Amino acid sequence: MSAFTVLITGPVMPLIREGLEARFHVLELYEAADKDAFIAEHAANVDALVSGTMKGRIDAAFMQRFPKLKIIGNFGVGYDGVDAKWAGEHSIIVTNTPDVLTDEVADLAIGLLIATMRRLPQADHYVRQGLWEKTGNFPLTASLREKTMGILGFGRIGQAIARRAEAFGLRLAYHSRTAKPGVPHPYYASLTEMARDVDILMVIAPGGEATRQIVNKEVLEALGPAGTLINVARGTLVDEAALVEALKAGRLGAAGLDVFEKEPHVPEVLFSMENVVLLPHVGSASHYTRNKMGQLVVDNITSFAEGKGPLTPVAETPWHIQR
Ligand code: NAP
Ligand code: 8YV
Repeated sequence: MSAFTVLITGPVMPLIREGLEARFHVLELYEAADKDAFIAEHAANVDALVSGTMKGRIDAAFMQRFPKLKIIGNFGVGYDGVDAKWAGEHSIIVTNTPDVLTDEVADLAIGLLIATMRRLPQADHYVRQGLWEKTGNFPLTASLREKTMGILGFGRIGQAIARRAEAFGLRLAYHSRTAKPGVPHPYYASLTEMARDVDILMVIAPGGEATRQIVNKEVLEALGPAGTLINVARGTLVDEAALVEALKAGRLGAAGLDVFEKEPHVPEVLFSMENVVLLPHVGSASHYTRNKMGQLVVDNITSFAEGKGPLTPVAETPWHIQR
């Protein structure tokens, strides 16, 4: 019997590579000079794919190149980079990394919110430039006091953000596909209506076609000139061109962005804007949490290869092949 073979598609942390190498035959696509030739040579043996930070999607055409493919281990809770619907329809399991990153991303979301409203990076810059001494005190900023925050996406991370925001005294509302029984905060079926009623819009729903540009010009204008947008979800949820225009024209007050439409590209026009804070997709990027995520990728593949089923399959994976 041939060894269980895992193809790693893009660069991964050593913990993942070493964890897989200790158990399986591991191939690294991103190390190959000629990727097509590498796939042609090895495709017939590949049982599992592990996604690294590969540009481009693991789409149907890519999966079809591996006739024995049974499981894809996605590094991240968001799996918009994998065509999970096609995979599910073809009995290929997709796993992701839920829960282990929830608190880290929620912390970052609150940090980015405070940084944006209290202008922390700008204040730091002010001190470093010697302006405090030369010019005097830093200008006063907006405040979280007496503000309402609407959360778009009220799942694991959205609810963890809500718990933190409650402790800060923010009033809350939320929009998701369904209302959550027992949640004390108002549910809005309409995102635009929620944006009209809140001061801050926190975006933390999945990427993909269903949410593409749902934060559009209308939503941004409903949030308004005193409103703040925080996006820690995916850049694809926001109409980036409309966002830039709204910020430029003062139709939106401020934005804190951890994610962008075409990462790592960030529209240069944002660099000179005083009312934005920009982060390089670091929501889960601590040693602690990335190690937990990496271990979960390894554990999913291992559990499956040992016949015990995947640990955290995504919803599109048919239930009868989950275990
Ligand atoms: P989750 O538990 O699955 O929650 C997703 C939430 O989004 C749910 O409330 C869901 O609604 C809602 N939603 C889904 N589709 C929607 C739609 N079309 N319209 C409105 N709401 C919709 O996911 P999670 O663990 O909280 O993660 C959320 C996302 O955060 C991930 O998919 C990922 O893209 C992003 N993320 C970013 C970072 C970062 O580094 N910045 C890190 C981790 C995750 P229902 O409750 O009604 O189903
Ligand atoms: C990671 C994320 O940065 O989990 C997610 O959905 O966006 C982040 O935790 C990403 O998946 C790693 O590339």
